Amino acid sequence: MNIDENTRKELIQKALDMRSFSYTPYSHWNVGAAVLTNDGKIFTGCNIENAAFTPTICAERTAIFKAVSKGTRAFKAIAISGGPSGEEPNEYCAPCGVCRQVMREFCDNDFIIFLAKSVDDYQTFTLRDLLPQSFGPKDLGKL
Ligand code: THU
Repeated sequence: MNIDENTRKELIQKALDMRSFSYTPYSHWNVGAAVLTNDGKIFTGCNIENAAFTPTICAERTAIFKAVSKGTRAFKAIAISGGPSGEEPNEYCAPCGVCRQVMREFCDNDFIIFLAKSVDDYQTFTLRDLLPQSFGPKDLGKL
């Protein structure tokens, strides 16, 4: 699956912008995400932490759950940007295992994952790359 250059830039810029909404009083690590739906819409998310720690949600799941809760379950790509709050990302922030599994629920193995430091500095992976030998809906005979 191919994402055109303008769409990729828009997706990454939105992920970068979302870091300003992160609520991170504990880690001070701000992550933004923007997910592209099969019908061309973009949903965004940031990480939201909690004093009890466990309820913390990552940026990727915020974005995907916003989309699913609006009736969209088919996705092409996600851009993720993360790093210390108040700084530009200086490394490629990879999604946690829980978020990879949530992607697996709604995305096929060719789902594209951009890990971005900036609009022009990013790495590209597929879900297959980041979650090999995965367990998904088909394993339960669903879908
Ligand atoms: N976090 C994300 O939002 N996404 C990732 O890809 C990695 C980790 C968040 C969770 C927590 O708020 C903070 O980053 C530090 O782990």
